[in-house]
Amino acid sequence: MNVVIRPDEADVTRYAYEFLRDRMNRKRYRVLGLPTGSTPLRLYRAVIDGFKRGEVDFADVHTFNLDEYLGLPPDHPQSYRRFMETNLFGQINIKPENINFLSGLPRDIEEECERYERAIRELGGIKLQILGIGRDGHIGFNEPTSSLASRTRDKTLTRETIEDNRRFFERDEEVPRWALTMGVGTIMEAREVLLLATGRAKADAVAAMIEGPVTTMCTASALQMHPRVTVVIDEAAAAKLNHDDYYRWMADNDARMVGYLEERRRRFLTGDSAQPEAAQKQ
Ligand code: F6R
Repeated sequence: MNVVIRPDEADVTRYAYEFLRDRMNRKRYRVLGLPTGSTPLRLYRAVIDGFKRGEVDFADVHTFNLDEYLGLPPDHPQSYRRFMETNLFGQINIKPENINFLSGLPRDIEEECERYERAIRELGGIKLQILGIGRDGHIGFNEPTSSLASRTRDKTLTRETIEDNRRFFERDEEVPRWALTMGVGTIMEAREVLLLATGRAKADAVAAMIEGPVTTMCTASALQMHPRVTVVIDEAAAAKLNHDDYYRWMADNDARMVGYLEERRRRFLTGDSAQPEAAQKQ
């Protein structure tokens, strides 16, 4: 995992936006996996601003959202579909037919989940999957004990997740208990993953995901088995990491590696045997 620690949420957002912009423009990623929740809100605002400046174009981009509450129609104020419309899709040039969502009111749950998996496959798979993380270490709605090989399916939410969501609903009985969600196995097939976490409340989950064992008790820990994961967190979310010194050291050195290598090659090719400046300092 590439662990990037930034001072605060604003910096996490800047990093994440530049990361996404780079993948869309340089790597031509056209199929994105997206989360809802409070974590990506600032990123979506940055994307809208970037779109207005002409830095990112969604004309031929397809999106797949991670999950949707079961029982909510698409236009329900708390549906994830509505959330995405309000906070992103309504303000960029994405084509409505390129937006993919799990239905909150499917006629047949299994068929609906299979349809979603098929739609992802038919577009050649998700290139960049953006994720948040729950306090219990969930990604999507893959709550603790979810199979790390799971595919898109229905999931009963934990009491903790339901509690976290309660504030968004006027009446208790409206708070959804079930959701449809991409599985951990589905998420693991994305070419690249960018996970964002901010705030002290996420510190335990972040530590378990990065430094704990790979376990269904923290489904985000499955990402340790993914070859291209970048985790961007603020200082508060990094508070429980044991090896944060190494992640900072790694970030410092990674930034110097390309220049160092170029210098070594130049010296080798020109027969100049003196040590490059970067190596002398070590
Ligand atoms: C939402 C999702 C969830 C959230 C997680 C964190 O689509 O898949 O896994 O990313 O619950 O939520 P926030 O960002 O609200 O703390």
